[in-house]
Amino acid sequence: MNAIQDQTTTKPRYNYRETLLASQKANWRIEDIIGGDKRLGFVRPLMPESFARVEELSFLTPDEKLKLNQVRGFDYLCAFGLVEEFILPFVLDHARTQLQGDDYRVRAFLGFAAEEAKHIQLFKRFRTEFEDGFGTECLFIGPPSAIAEVILAHEPLAVAMVILHLEWMTQRHYLDSIRDAQELDPQFSSLLRHHWMEEAQHAKLDTLMVEALAEGRSEAELEKALDGYLEIGGFLDSGLHQQVEFNLENLRRSTGRTVTEEQRSEFMSKQHQALRWTFLGSGMTHPNFLATLERLSPALRQRIEQVAPVFS
Ligand SMILES: [Fe+2]
Ligand SMILES: [Fe+2]
Repeated sequence: MNAIQDQTTTKPRYNYRETLLASQKANWRIEDIIGGDKRLGFVRPLMPESFARVEELSFLTPDEKLKLNQVRGFDYLCAFGLVEEFILPFVLDHARTQLQGDDYRVRAFLGFAAEEAKHIQLFKRFRTEFEDGFGTECLFIGPPSAIAEVILAHEPLAVAMVILHLEWMTQRHYLDSIRDAQELDPQFSSLLRHHWMEEAQHAKLDTLMVEALAEGRSEAELEKALDGYLEIGGFLDSGLHQQVEFNLENLRRSTGRTVTEEQRSEFMSKQHQALRWTFLGSGMTHPNFLATLERLSPALRQRIEQVAPVFS
């Protein structure tokens, strides 16, 4: 088993058997989360304000702010559908490298992949639910397969770092901003709670995956992998900027709201920063993500800490 030892004990930080058992306990069905009387609502915000940041846009009315919040809920659903699309083949490829040996490893990674396939379907299901209930067709960047192709062209350790970032980010979103937020639509919160439950095991498996891929690498090779992680981050950031343009159009379509040049520029800069924090900053500053980088090399952590303020 490729697990870097915890410096304070001789035990590996995570192991495949325990992760597999925990994932079997958490397992849920899509049918138990959405469908029947479990419908997405549109009278409340979908996203916590820490991610939506609609209150910063003082030129919008309360109704327009609510609509923009819901548009942000839509981009959240689409973004997760998009990232799960490259996580699934990557995890399957990683599982395939060692099909003999540790049976728990094989089962843990196949379980991880099966859960991501389920999440892709779950996010699609919620996206359809959103499109049915919101009343306006919204734009989103893509298609996911084209974005996945660009990301998967990078070296495996760089991609594994991005996946680790995304998994810890999901943990943080739920625990810091959604678990205790009473004002949000309960169905949207339920989606994030169920996703968080299964992603908790993914974050541990990703840690093992990053550690396995990093084993035996020189400092220069690790730095190069981090370059790849940052390149993917830059690529995603340009997609987020495009999405902010789309969200302004989504707001116009759903409310009829038009903006002056000055308001447009304020919308673009504040909302770009909101999307950056949601999908980039909140992952790259997660203590467990930074701790894994630091165990590979303290220089990697320092580089991330230098760039993180741009995404906060
Ligand atoms: Fe997922
Ligand atoms: Fe995941």
